[in-house]
Amino acid sequence: MKVDAVILVGGQGTRLRPLTLFAPKPMLPTAGVPFLEHMLSRIREAGIVHVVLGTSYKASVFSDYFGDGSRLGLDIEYVVETEALGTGGGIRNVADKLRYDTVMVFNGDVVSGVDLCALYATHVANNADVTLHLVKVADPRAFGCVATGAKGEVLEFLEKTEDPPTNQINAGCYVFKREVLLAIPPDRVVSVERETFPNLLKAGAPVFGYVEESYWLDLGTPAAFVKGSADLVRGFAPTAALPGPVGDSLILPGAHVAKTALVFGGTTLGRDVTVGDEAVVEESVVFEGAQIDTGARVVRSIVGAGATIGAGAHVCDAVIGDRALIGAGCELRAGIRVWPGVEIPASGIRFSA
Ligand code: GTP
Repeated sequence: MKVDAVILVGGQGTRLRPLTLFAPKPMLPTAGVPFLEHMLSRIREAGIVHVVLGTSYKASVFSDYFGDGSRLGLDIEYVVETEALGTGGGIRNVADKLRYDTVMVFNGDVVSGVDLCALYATHVANNADVTLHLVKVADPRAFGCVATGAKGEVLEFLEKTEDPPTNQINAGCYVFKREVLLAIPPDRVVSVERETFPNLLKAGAPVFGYVEESYWLDLGTPAAFVKGSADLVRGFAPTAALPGPVGDSLILPGAHVAKTALVFGGTTLGRDVTVGDEAVVEESVVFEGAQIDTGARVVRSIVGAGATIGAGAHVCDAVIGDRALIGAGCELRAGIRVWPGVEIPASGIRFSA
């Protein structure tokens, strides 16, 4: 495909703190590799080779890891925003790097099964200025919705409401004609969702939706992050970058699981993780070098690198920062976040958000 891929990865990922204090969200280990690697694998599979990363927050982490992209069969370039320019500003800011007349833009935190070749073909067939990937969701109330007509033409962009008239939401992936991208005002903060797309519609430009119902998840929150990672491990979400076979768990080299422990539900154990006797780890992401002691229970949680979950502790729907120590017998539940390096004594105290 003669298309440039632009991936927006400049956000601060505040909803995933404290994990994003030291790494940008798209670089967090997800199903065994930085999340962005799963997305890049799908882009490569679709036959796109040239990728521009629109970075801002912790920009060097991306280039240090991916370099020129040749390891993945890609040609990756980087553009750094000194001040974050928002989604539209970030897209406009990479204009100098584009090589083709068509540009596919991705939010860098979405897991999606969309057929990129079909999305592109729809864009070309409609001779559209912009084509948005739209996905039908069961509960659209938390999202901006996009209404389309009989031929797929976008009729309206709707803000979040309690009673949306359509269940089609903006899935964070767009195909642009290069000249339309160049018309976004440069060097200032612009939102494509709130400014660029509604203005195009007002001007009568051909803006189309490509609607489908394959796997889609925005990994912006801890709950979505653990679900997305587990779905990649279990093969419910597509990727060509899983570093092991699809299954009920992904256990990276050097991790050690005691015979009487249970690890399941799409859990990933990073390198050198240890899981003690009778411990249970369900639908969780455990970063490298973490330790889960005897009889501990970790459910739908993220355990940071080098953190310790003490014997018999229960950690459920929680985020545990790198090197934190959760004392034996503690109970942490429902959205609780422990900052890196914090030590909670083995007091058996229950914390819940
Ligand atoms: P939160 O702070 O938790 O909302 O996360 P976020 O900062 O990642 O924001 P959001 O989830 O809305 O961003 C969607 C995608 O756009 C992510 O992949 C971000 O990295 C990216 N993004 C958001 N703002 C900017 C920006 O100003 N510049 C660039 N280049 N990318 C951005």
